[in-house]
Amino acid sequence: MNALAIAAPAKLNLALRVGKPDGTGYHPLASWMCTIALFDNLSIVREGPPGLRFTCDDPALPRDAGNLVLRAARELLTDARLGYAALSITLRKRIPSAAGLGGGSSDAAATLLGLNRLFELGFGREKLALIASALGSDVPFFLYGPSAYCRGRGERVSPLPAPSLARWALLVLAPFGLSTADVYRRFDDMALGTAESPELAEAQKLPDFSSRELLNVLSNDLEPAAFSLAPALSDLHATIERHLGRPVRMSGSGSTLFTLFDDPDEANRAAQRARDTLFGPRFAVVTLAPEVSDVGDPLDIG
Ligand code: C5P
Repeated sequence: MNALAIAAPAKLNLALRVGKPDGTGYHPLASWMCTIALFDNLSIVREGPPGLRFTCDDPALPRDAGNLVLRAARELLTDARLGYAALSITLRKRIPSAAGLGGGSSDAAATLLGLNRLFELGFGREKLALIASALGSDVPFFLYGPSAYCRGRGERVSPLPAPSLARWALLVLAPFGLSTADVYRRFDDMALGTAESPELAEAQKLPDFSSRELLNVLSNDLEPAAFSLAPALSDLHATIERHLGRPVRMSGSGSTLFTLFDDPDEANRAAQRARDTLFGPRFAVVTLAPEVSDVGDPLDIG
C-alpha cells in the first residue's frame, strides 16, 4: 500500500471531572468522551526522498514540536525503526483549534493508525496507546472511540456506549479559543480540584438517558476556570442557556459550548433561531458517534 486517507473526528467531553494535580502538575480526570461528525482529513503518501513532508490548509498550525501530527509520525517511525521513511502528509483542517474539540489529538491518533496500516507494522492498540498517551491526554481516546469512559491522564480508556437517544449536539463555536494549559492553571489558582481519583457517578447508566435527563446530570469541572479566564465565554454561556431554554455545557477546556437533542429537527430549528438572533458564535448541528467506517479506519487510496 502506498497511500491512504483517514477521517479524524472531533470529540465532545459529555462529562468531565477533574481532580487534584499530582506531583507532576497533571490532573487526574474522569470523562465520558464521544466523537462527533466534524472531521479533519489526513492523507499519507509514500513518495519522494527520505523524510517527512507536511502540508496543511491552515497556515496557523504550528510546524515545530507543537505539531502533533509530526510528533506522532516521528515517535511511531522511530519505534518501528523506519526513521528514513519517505512520506508526504497532508492535513485538511476543519476542526477549530483551541476549542476543546480534540482536533490536534485526533489528527495525532489518525497518524498513528494510518502509519501502522501503511507500513503494516502490526502494532496493537495497547502499543499505539502507549505512544498516544505521551503525545497528549486526549490522544488514546481517539484510538478507541467512538464513545468511551476515560480516566487517569486519559490513558485508561474503557468503552461506554454512545447516548442511545441524545444523538445530536448543537455546537456553539465561540469566536476565540482557550489554551488548555491556561485553563488548568486557573483551575489550580481557584483551588477547584479536590478528588485524588475522580469518577463519574453511575457512568454505565448514562448512555440510556434522554437529552433532558443527561443535561440535568452532566457537568464539566473546568467551566468555572474557563469562565473566570474568559468572561466573554461566561457571558456567551449565560446568553445561550437563556436563549435555548436548556442546559448548555462546555467541551474539554473550552471554548466550544454544546447542548444535546433527541430529535435532529428540533436541534436544527434551535440552531437556525440562534443564528438569526445571536451574532458572534457559529452554530452547527452534528451527530454523536457518527457511523462512518473510516473513523480511525484508514481508507486505502493507492
Ligand atoms: O494533554 P494535553 O496536551 O491536552 O494538555 C495540555 C496542558 O494542559 C498540559 O501541558 C497541562 O498543563 C494541562 N493538563 C493538565 N492535566 C490534564 C490534562 C492537561 O494539567 N489531565
